[in-house]
Amino acid sequence: MTFTPVLSAGWGDSDSFTLDGYTRRGGYDALTKALAMDPDALISLVKESGLRGRGGAGFPTGMKWGFIPQGDGKPHYLVVNADESEPGTCKDIPLMLANPHVLVEGVAISSYAIRANHAFIYVRGEVTHVVRRLQQAVADAYDAGHLGKNIAGSGYDLDVVVHAGAGAYICGEETALLDSLEGYRGQPRLRPPFPATHGLYGAPTVINNVESIASVPAIVLGGAEWFASMGTEKSKGFTLYSLSGHVRNPGQFEGPLGLTLRQLLDLSGGMREGRTLKFWTPGGSSTPILTDAHLDVPLDYEAVGAAGSMLGTKALQCFDDTTCVVRAVLRWTEFYAHESCGKCTPCREGTYWMVQILARLEAGDGTEEDLATLLDTCDNILGRAFCALGDGATSPITSAIQYFRDEFVQHMTGKGCPFDPVASTVFAAASS
Ligand SMILES: Cc1cc2nc3c(=O)[nH]c(=O)nc-3n(C[C@H](O)[C@H](O)[C@H](O)COP(=O)(O)O)c2cc1C
Ligand code: SF4
Repeated sequence: MTFTPVLSAGWGDSDSFTLDGYTRRGGYDALTKALAMDPDALISLVKESGLRGRGGAGFPTGMKWGFIPQGDGKPHYLVVNADESEPGTCKDIPLMLANPHVLVEGVAISSYAIRANHAFIYVRGEVTHVVRRLQQAVADAYDAGHLGKNIAGSGYDLDVVVHAGAGAYICGEETALLDSLEGYRGQPRLRPPFPATHGLYGAPTVINNVESIASVPAIVLGGAEWFASMGTEKSKGFTLYSLSGHVRNPGQFEGPLGLTLRQLLDLSGGMREGRTLKFWTPGGSSTPILTDAHLDVPLDYEAVGAAGSMLGTKALQCFDDTTCVVRAVLRWTEFYAHESCGKCTPCREGTYWMVQILARLEAGDGTEEDLATLLDTCDNILGRAFCALGDGATSPITSAIQYFRDEFVQHMTGKGCPFDPVASTVFAAASS
């Protein structure tokens, strides 16, 4: 299989992140082409391309844009979700560091398509270096006339604001993000009404992931047919897969949707020396874990769903046979308990109690009743929490017990963790 990188093209260049470097590779040509088109034609183009949101849920991007009411006389907003805080997910930050201009160009085209004159890029607050790089890219794009008033003489005006969050995972949830952007405490909003009609400041708003928006310039230049020629029947185009954990060569791997983990491990040199794959996440910690039995599952929305998980953000965290699954699940659950915003009872209380039970189990003090209570708690969160953070918190637990129940029981009968803690330390180093 041969594939020419699109999103990661030029990442190896020393000036990949500068306006000059981007322009040399044809940057901002797509904006010129788009501004000569009718906004509705751009929405149709993105619909025809089959692009689906890369933020996790895979919602069709063109359809989302099409929900924005036109001719309503209200301001429209584009908000880019660059919060990227899910454990394992690490594609948007490298993308923005290596080539912030592809995002800025995507923002300009997408805003024009939905008839927005203001766009916001909401970036995870901890990554100050990315915030600075984006701010520089936006400033350079203004100076070059790609943003601001009367862009390239088209009569179209766009202002772009880079906003740094304060470091809360829940602010990646799109409606919590909007509240945070408005200056309130970041907590999810009740839906309906949906952001397409009542979003930022109560106005029609499109919220898209960084990778979704960064894919738009290539679609404008290459065409819908070209984009749709890659990937699988219902999951079209190219994407960034992030490999991390016990692999020899972790990092970003770009390719069409539908590659398998086996193919990606071949590209990355496989698992670390002498070790075998035990379990992995297809798309971050909120997607149910899979095992070595799923190495040949095509990584697209449909096949991963049929295998009992979700494609999510294509964050492939790989754990080898030295890893204690109980400890890994405890760590993830501690994260969810810490990040629960506290708005709804099932998630606020449930994640706290799940940590207590998992800690007991991991220490060798758990019982069969604890395991049953753990599953019962998950059952009371899944589908009953106010937002998807609660659902996501149950995924590692239920899937780990599904595949590794014996290991949970072994912790009880063996009265402790049978795994070597030194090997886990190596894991921390390998995945950092
Ligand atoms: C707890 C939580 C955290 C999320 N974090 C992110 C994030 O960091 N980036 C992102 O794009 N989407 C995140 N999402 C998904 C967004 O709510 C939303 O679906 C996405 O930004 C839509 O963009 P897309 O259609 O381009 O995928 C998160 C969802 C939840 C429930
Ligand atoms: S599920 Fe958790 S994060 Fe979501 S609203 Fe409820 S308490 Fe907040």
